[in-house]
Amino acid sequence: MSKTLTILGLESSCDDTAAAVVRHTPGAGAQILSSIVAGQTELHADFGGVVPELAARAHTEKLDHCVEAALEQASVDLKQIDAIAVTAGPGLIGGVLAGVMCAKGLAAATGLPLIGVNHLAGHALTPRLTDNLAFPYLVLLVSGGHCQFLIVNGPDSFRRLGGTIDDAPGEAFDKTAKLLGLPQPGGPAVEAEARTGDAGRFAFPRPLLDRPGCDLSFSGLKTALLRERDRLVAACGGLHLSDRADLCAGFQAAVADVLAEKSRRALSEYLSLEPDEPCFTVAGGVAANMSIRSLLETVSEDAGVRFVAPPLALCTDNAAMIAWAGIERLRLGLVDDMTLSARPRWPLDTTSPALLGSGKKGAKA
Ligand code: KG4
Ligand code: ZN
Repeated sequence: MSKTLTILGLESSCDDTAAAVVRHTPGAGAQILSSIVAGQTELHADFGGVVPELAARAHTEKLDHCVEAALEQASVDLKQIDAIAVTAGPGLIGGVLAGVMCAKGLAAATGLPLIGVNHLAGHALTPRLTDNLAFPYLVLLVSGGHCQFLIVNGPDSFRRLGGTIDDAPGEAFDKTAKLLGLPQPGGPAVEAEARTGDAGRFAFPRPLLDRPGCDLSFSGLKTALLRERDRLVAACGGLHLSDRADLCAGFQAAVADVLAEKSRRALSEYLSLEPDEPCFTVAGGVAANMSIRSLLETVSEDAGVRFVAPPLALCTDNAAMIAWAGIERLRLGLVDDMTLSARPRWPLDTTSPALLGSGKKGAKA
């Protein structure tokens, strides 16, 4: 299918309700005509994490408004849309269901094709939306619920080189923030604290570097931080602001070091495939962290590989990535029907063995 395609995308798999319209003309590139994201940070603030039932109810309330706003901002109506793409998993099942039901309603009312998109594929394909990358490229997906290295061979073809065996890095950032009395989401708060901290003061571990391969682990790091915090509190009766900054800086440096070393290994495995235009890219909320991003850029450049990081708004959850993945699928003729179901778990690479702790929270990507 080589004509211009305009797709409406919906996303509701965690705590962001989103709708977007993306247009693609072969040879001329893609355009994000609109991207609406309604977050739920305040809704969950008192609970220290996302409450699935509250999230699902809020998605149901907000989806219609987001769709209307996305169409209006794009200055298109449903008659100019070629298909409806929706996140069909993995994620919090109530939210995913809300999105799938909304998309089915729109498809039934308009007769438009319905396309179920894997949320992780949305993240992993974003660099093609922003930078038109050629396959195969290497992506590090690093978010609140996931951490994995994938070789992206095609819109529906992914090979996982490794991933976390316990917590995802974003989850570790969130827990660290909680342990230190910082607000959620923890990533931006810990990054801000770390700016004035001394990363060398605490000797935090670099888990799994002693083992070959690209698997990662972050739960020990959080425990080490808890131990240091309790030691300081016992010794001094509390934490000084400088202690907190040093803990954040040490933690962030440890996460960055682990991601950097595992990226080196993933890059060497990827380069053994001799890709024509080698490229390494990051996706997911943690990719918004500037010190992690710049370290990964250095690692990539050292390996002689082009580094691409999507703009921050396309690293965190959004519906433009879902609309884009829908365009890629529609071009391959991959369309669903009214039997499309919502899936809480949905690995991208079904041939690799399941990761032990992959998405312990299982909700975010
Ligand atoms: O991709 P995302 O918006 O949602 C999913 O997890 O799918 O990522 C959210 C995660 C949260 O855990 C948040 O703390 C983390 O990304 N995050 C960051 C930063 N910004 C967001 N982690 C580290 N540094 C940041 N600047
Ligand atoms: Zn995500």
